[in-house]
Amino acid sequence: MPGDHCTMEKVDHILSEFRLDEDDLMEVMRRLQKEMERGLRLETHEEASVKMLPTYVRSTPEGSEVGDFLALDLGGTNFRVMLVKVGEDEERGWKVETKNGMYSIPEDAMTGTAEMLFDHVAECISDFLGKHHIKHKKLPLGFTFSFPVRHEDIDKGILLNWTKGFKVSGAEGNNVVGLLRDAIKRRGDFEMDVVAMVNDTVATMISCYYEDRRCEVGMIVGTGCNVCYMEEMRTVELVEGEEGRMCVNTEWGAFGDHGELEEFRLEYDRVVDETSVNSGQQLYEKLISGKYMGELVRLVLLKLVSENLLFNGEASEQLRTKGSFDTRYVSQIESDSGDRKHIYNILTTLGLLPSERDCDIVRLACESVSTRAAHMCAAGLAGVINRMRERRSQEDLKITVGVDGSVYKLHPCFQDKFHRVVRDLTPHCDITFLQSEEGSGRGAALVSAVACKMATCMLTQ
Ligand code: BGC
Repeated sequence: MPGDHCTMEKVDHILSEFRLDEDDLMEVMRRLQKEMERGLRLETHEEASVKMLPTYVRSTPEGSEVGDFLALDLGGTNFRVMLVKVGEDEERGWKVETKNGMYSIPEDAMTGTAEMLFDHVAECISDFLGKHHIKHKKLPLGFTFSFPVRHEDIDKGILLNWTKGFKVSGAEGNNVVGLLRDAIKRRGDFEMDVVAMVNDTVATMISCYYEDRRCEVGMIVGTGCNVCYMEEMRTVELVEGEEGRMCVNTEWGAFGDHGELEEFRLEYDRVVDETSVNSGQQLYEKLISGKYMGELVRLVLLKLVSENLLFNGEASEQLRTKGSFDTRYVSQIESDSGDRKHIYNILTTLGLLPSERDCDIVRLACESVSTRAAHMCAAGLAGVINRMRERRSQEDLKITVGVDGSVYKLHPCFQDKFHRVVRDLTPHCDITFLQSEEGSGRGAALVSAVACKMATCMLTQ
């Protein structure tokens, strides 16, 4: 059709805003590196958008305890409880076995008070212990808590702010481990010894380290997006000591909160931010992670409709409803084999009657948003890895990145596009990407096993 060509050109023009060229990506990388440096330095830390939080997970493990550990994972849409058996294999390496319990977090626990949330957490633990007949055991517990925490030690830290749609009052500024201990005490039907709290990036890195000793970076691209890595102790100015390395939780999701990404943010990004519960915060995360990807696509589709380029210029009630376009649709649409069946089905559930061309345009919109996410995220990781190589004054850096998260694991093309750009931007680095399985639980248990060992070492000294 003659009109087709013209429509596709106009669509392409609108979607071209999402493309980032190499100069753009280098610029994002440099700006992130600058913020990382500011986050690490004492005199600029307060005002830096990237907080670079010390985790107290160090590079010199003291060996680890063996035995049963309980691991909790709070930070996504579900809350998980795991029983992790840490043992030793023939080479005195780690051997890990897990049992899992998955619990949903009701909306009112996500937006109520800290007491309500942690009472729910304690109730889930109690249910899990009951099911596995271990309520009488006082187990060491490792807590994966995937939000920005300023640690004072491995088992103590205050929540700086919520992210990813959580809005629980009375938690920010408080010791999270204390909130958990209080809730367990309130219930009174079991006891736990909370020995470590870690971010999910840290848990992922540790669980991959268990397979590959070169793993010194952990990354999550799921509901949220974040990275941790091993930094030289002498540059972690917030913690005393010069020797060895400490894992730093970058909290890079907040990159851009001080205006560093303004020329890269589009009208859709501004709407997503303004209608979120944490407007003005986590601006880099909002360009990348699964919490926002579907909504970005929905806004792009509405723009195309308003320009009369899609669905005959008419959007359905559902499409006009905030949050109706799930991020998993983006993965499913881009996985369509070419017969448009998947795309057609998804669009009809949204009350639309798409033509073949509509299906193709929707797919292009998904690709634009997810490709930009992959490239933006890649520029960030390249910044971290280049920094590590420079700090270590190494000609060549061979490194493994442990990765987890639904966008990374489930989207059909995110990984490839992401890997390609990371590698393009990191000359002299040889990078292996390792997907973690059950990283949050296993990682928390392994950190706890090391923490227990250190605690008993201290006691027996
Ligand atoms: C949180 C991080 C977390 C990431 C991935 C972000 O919103 O601030 O602490 O690591 O999500 O779950």
